[in-house]
Amino acid sequence: MNDASSCFMSANAKNSSQTKSLAQLAGAGKSIEKNIEKNTRKNLLLIVMGGIAAYKTPQLCRELRWRGFNLRVVMTKNASRFVSSEELARASGQAVSENLFAEQNLPQKLKKTPRQNTWQNSGQNTWQNTWQNTWQNHDENMAHIELARWAHIVLIAPATANGLARLAHGLCDDLGSTTLIALKREVPVFAAPAMNPQMWQNPATRHNIALLKEREVKMIGPCIGLTACGEVGLGRMSEPIEIANELELACLKEHLLEGVRILITAGATIEPIDPVRYISNKSSGRQGYALAKAFAERGAQVILIAGATLAQPPTSQRIKVIRTESAAEMARASIDCLTSASGQKAKKSEPVQVAICAAAVADFRPKKQFKLKPAKKTLAGKIDLLENRDILAEIATLPKGVRPQIVIGFAAETSYQIKEKLLAKQKTKKCDWLIANDVLNDDVFNSEFNRVQILDEKGRVEALPRMTKLAVAGRIADKVAEYLRDLEKLKKQKIEAKEKNSMMAT
Ligand code: CTP
Repeated sequence: MNDASSCFMSANAKNSSQTKSLAQLAGAGKSIEKNIEKNTRKNLLLIVMGGIAAYKTPQLCRELRWRGFNLRVVMTKNASRFVSSEELARASGQAVSENLFAEQNLPQKLKKTPRQNTWQNSGQNTWQNTWQNTWQNHDENMAHIELARWAHIVLIAPATANGLARLAHGLCDDLGSTTLIALKREVPVFAAPAMNPQMWQNPATRHNIALLKEREVKMIGPCIGLTACGEVGLGRMSEPIEIANELELACLKEHLLEGVRILITAGATIEPIDPVRYISNKSSGRQGYALAKAFAERGAQVILIAGATLAQPPTSQRIKVIRTESAAEMARASIDCLTSASGQKAKKSEPVQVAICAAAVADFRPKKQFKLKPAKKTLAGKIDLLENRDILAEIATLPKGVRPQIVIGFAAETSYQIKEKLLAKQKTKKCDWLIANDVLNDDVFNSEFNRVQILDEKGRVEALPRMTKLAVAGRIADKVAEYLRDLEKLKKQKIEAKEKNSMMAT
């Protein structure tokens, strides 16, 4: 880390690896080699906007290339006031694209033979030639589409107040902004803002940042420090090494739970009394949906058993949504998935390693369901209830080989003096972890936020601060990844010890 970067604290420096130098990272040996291998497959598009911090982007390009990203750079007209395209081309190893329509934007290897030449040289006026040539020309004139299709990941650095405002409102009139609008929804976009502290605090900027975060544009920084205008405050662009580390972490995160299959129940269940009335609860299903998203983002294959909720389930190729309404339907769908995975059912699929029951399953259902709506007087005090199947307890007590390696329940509690209650619930349901949320003191239902405590298999409790449901889900997913890794290590050690013993015996 250079002197400048060590003087300023990154506003979002979350872990120590973000502050590691290239040399330290290189020292990490094999795992880093593996990272480079993985990142090499990633096409990273860097969009350089017109802020003074643009002078740092050649260094940023070197950091990113060192981490194995395939790099291409687009710069705005104003960016060229602070950094030259030649310097960026040298640092990125690719021609820099600046213009929306110019053919010279395309890297050499992608340049196609101009239509006229092909036309003249081929001497064959077949319809295929005509179509192909027109298409090629079309492609060359649409650099924004070509770049948007090429990019697996996009970084805007520096991201100016103007650039972020334009992105928030969908304005596009140059190559960078047009490419951003042309990106597929699943392409992650990162932005490293850089601006005067007052500009960063301005309500218009705050609003734009909130809009972009809602659309999952991830902000890296800014950090606190001396800005180019001489003011000290929040607005300085994060150091290139921190930006590159954060991107690398994001790419690694994608592989954290690769190959893991997980079943998640989410939302409330509905237990009909008659065609109009039903028993249900206040669950919005948002925490369960956030879990599905967080696990899919980390590479897991998710089976999401959704109950009754108005929220939209996350869309991802890694998430399969199964819709249910009543507790009985949810229980059937969940157990079916797990038993077919174990080969107990005719239709065999991969085993499921993790189950999280985040659904607020109605505890009871009416004994009798009326086909026609009865008058209220005939119902008052006459609805007999039957207890529903306990999905969590059923999953946790499935036989070995069918039971997921880790089974996690949620507990909506109305008091924070809950450790004993949780321990008792964990024991009765035979689950590994219980995640408790205080639904009395916190505004949890239908809210973006949650505050949870995690009781693990050893009876330890970790209390997390109030954070978004997606952040809670991320922490749970990371913790599960760690648990599975430890389990795998333990398994290996046992096998090694067994092999050692049998060798010694012979
Ligand atoms: N759960 C379940 N099936 C049920 C009831 C609950 O799978 N029929 C799961 C929930 O998804 C949650 C956990 O059990 O993960 C705990 O739910 P909670 O309502 O707190 O527990 P209950 O068993 O209903 O106990 P009580 O209401 O008495 O606290």
